[in-house]
Amino acid sequence: MSEQNEQTEQNDQHDQAIPTFVAHLECSMTGERYEAGRVHGLSRAGRPLLVRYDLAALAKAASKEVLAARDGGFWRYREFLPVRRAENVVSLGEVMTPLVALPRMAADLGVTGGEILVKDEGRLPTGSFKARGLALAVAMAKELGLTHLAMPTNGNAGAAMAAYGSRAGLRTTVFCPDDTPEINISEIALQGARVYRVNGLINDCGKIVGEGKAATGWFDLSTLKEPYRIEGKKTMGLELAEQLGWDVPDVIFYPTGGGTGLIGMWKAFAELEAIGWIGSRRPRMVAVQASGCAPIVKAFEAGEEHAPLWENAHTVAAGIRVPVAVGDFLILRAVRESGGFAIAVDDEAIIAARDEVAAREGFLMCPEGAATYAAYKQALADGRVAKDERVVLYNCATGLKYPMPPVTARLDRTGPIDYAAL
Ligand SMILES: Cc1ncc(COP(=O)(O)O)c(C=O)c1O
Repeated sequence: MSEQNEQTEQNDQHDQAIPTFVAHLECSMTGERYEAGRVHGLSRAGRPLLVRYDLAALAKAASKEVLAARDGGFWRYREFLPVRRAENVVSLGEVMTPLVALPRMAADLGVTGGEILVKDEGRLPTGSFKARGLALAVAMAKELGLTHLAMPTNGNAGAAMAAYGSRAGLRTTVFCPDDTPEINISEIALQGARVYRVNGLINDCGKIVGEGKAATGWFDLSTLKEPYRIEGKKTMGLELAEQLGWDVPDVIFYPTGGGTGLIGMWKAFAELEAIGWIGSRRPRMVAVQASGCAPIVKAFEAGEEHAPLWENAHTVAAGIRVPVAVGDFLILRAVRESGGFAIAVDDEAIIAARDEVAAREGFLMCPEGAATYAAYKQALADGRVAKDERVVLYNCATGLKYPMPPVTARLDRTGPIDYAAL
């Protein structure tokens, strides 16, 4: 190659490339290495692949000051992300999700010296934190030349894949359990995916995606079955640390289905410590599940490394109705390493928590988010969390997407109105 051509090629790369520090991918179970820049699903051991970065180079290239000057939204952490070319970044106007304090609930519970903060992920495009993982997965699918993506979903992930897939010009196909909330099915369809109801649970839908690969050529975007959703979810940890002045809270309560967010945040904190942006202090990670579907809680309490399939899974919190998780050992490892725990709450406590927080604080949580508040209350009562601790609860989706109790009060404007009784 002539010197001039070489120069032109370098300039082209410089124009279109964004700095990325991906070194390789790694099997989360065996540590076996895989080459970056290729299409990957699970590792040869059938386990999730994790993206590993050249953290020394990342530390030199990134700075807290430069970051602080950027727009909000998770694409601001581009040095920590795997996308190489700017044209593959797919965006729908992401924001930095706020940390909303619940001072009345804190007062009701006698919390002194501590704080209850809710990370409100309902403000993201498609109304849930699934935007983070799916934006990254879709961007990487585009970058790697994939054209058709498929997934099983309890609702929110399918909506995010449909929206970001359409935005990127990719075809998407989605399979939902029969009783997925109607609004999720409709939003998935409206945002450009083919969506099918299946008479089974999310793992049954996952089987259809897996079995259909050869006949359709679609790529399986199921939770943790490709390496990039976790990188998107990792931004929850980066963002939280940045919002807290490059610090971490004492405890994080996370509604756990497949567990991508919990695993992703744990990875974020490790990477931040490696580049010297935070210290070695870690939050205690609490995996919150519903008592009708609590495989991780059962495995945690039994001291097991894996969580077998939970039979007859049921809960009003559809997002955490995940009877078996491919990343079970990663969730359990993070929870244990952090000194945290796994906890189950029943549906009555979830609904009571949603109603209480909405009425007292004016904050409508989704059932999965409400489960974290119910779990916090339980943990405060049994002493696993102290009153002087700063806790962060994840409200993973907007409460507006979920069925709400009917309101029956009516007024007849043509008759006399008893104002004193209103
Ligand atoms: C609102 C909500 N909360 C929590 C979860 C569980 O997330 P994860 O798979 O990261 O455990 C989901 C997943 O569908 C969800 O939609």
